[in-house]
Amino acid sequence: MRANLRIRRFNPEQDTVPWWGEYTVENVKSSDSVLDVLHRVKWEHDGTLTLRRSCGHGVCGSDAMRINGRNRLACATVILHITNKGSSEIDLQIEPIAGLPVIKDLVVDMTTFYAHNRQVMPHFINNSPPPENGRERLQSPEQRARFDDTTKCILCAACTTSCPIFWGNGRYVGPAAIVQAHRFIFDSRDEAGARRLNVLNDGYGAWRCRTNYNCTNACPRDIKVTQAIAEVKMALVNEKI
Ligand code: SF4
Ligand code: F3S
Ligand code: FES
Repeated sequence: MRANLRIRRFNPEQDTVPWWGEYTVENVKSSDSVLDVLHRVKWEHDGTLTLRRSCGHGVCGSDAMRINGRNRLACATVILHITNKGSSEIDLQIEPIAGLPVIKDLVVDMTTFYAHNRQVMPHFINNSPPPENGRERLQSPEQRARFDDTTKCILCAACTTSCPIFWGNGRYVGPAAIVQAHRFIFDSRDEAGARRLNVLNDGYGAWRCRTNYNCTNACPRDIKVTQAIAEVKMALVNEKI
């Protein structure tokens, strides 16, 4: 199969505005990922193409990008799944995720994203003495299930950078940070839920969400992001966790 690529390029040391690079890659297999095809561009056509990637298997979250208009992980997007059946060609338009400054080509500056994440204290907090006899803080299967979905987040930013509210105002904490907060707010062993809810009650917190659902559609881990945000909003309304 032939892949025809349009890739949004920008090198701040040379370019004043972004431009489209066009490349053709032959002998692409239907089992290849978009990341495989981008590697072919970088290794066979233009070594200056810049992108982030690490694990290659949908685990590290480093290669979120906009592929044919939708945020996806390049490594987890298989050509077979985005090609018309029987087609011998595929058109791929590749852009950096939106709403964050572009450093170069497909690499964006994640500083704001991580700062929002830190705001909600995305780590376990419990300052009470641990149970006696060296036992762990126990939790029932039901208590564990309460936050199971949001443990799956890999901080890829596909959700936050697909949210029109975040595009409009980068101070919005964004769905990824709310997902991180959810994971700890609903953990029966954690003691800082009220502090996290207080952060999310701010004018740039959970109430900014307008239930657009782009975030849920973008999440490569199939996390019910919008539902998690709704549960956080309910916790804010009910003042109970
Ligand atoms: Fe990525 Fe999903 Fe986590 Fe958002 S919630 S950062 S899309 S894994
Ligand atoms: Fe944005 Fe997701 Fe809410 S796309 S508006 S955070 S449901
Ligand atoms: Fe790690 Fe794609 S390279 S998630």
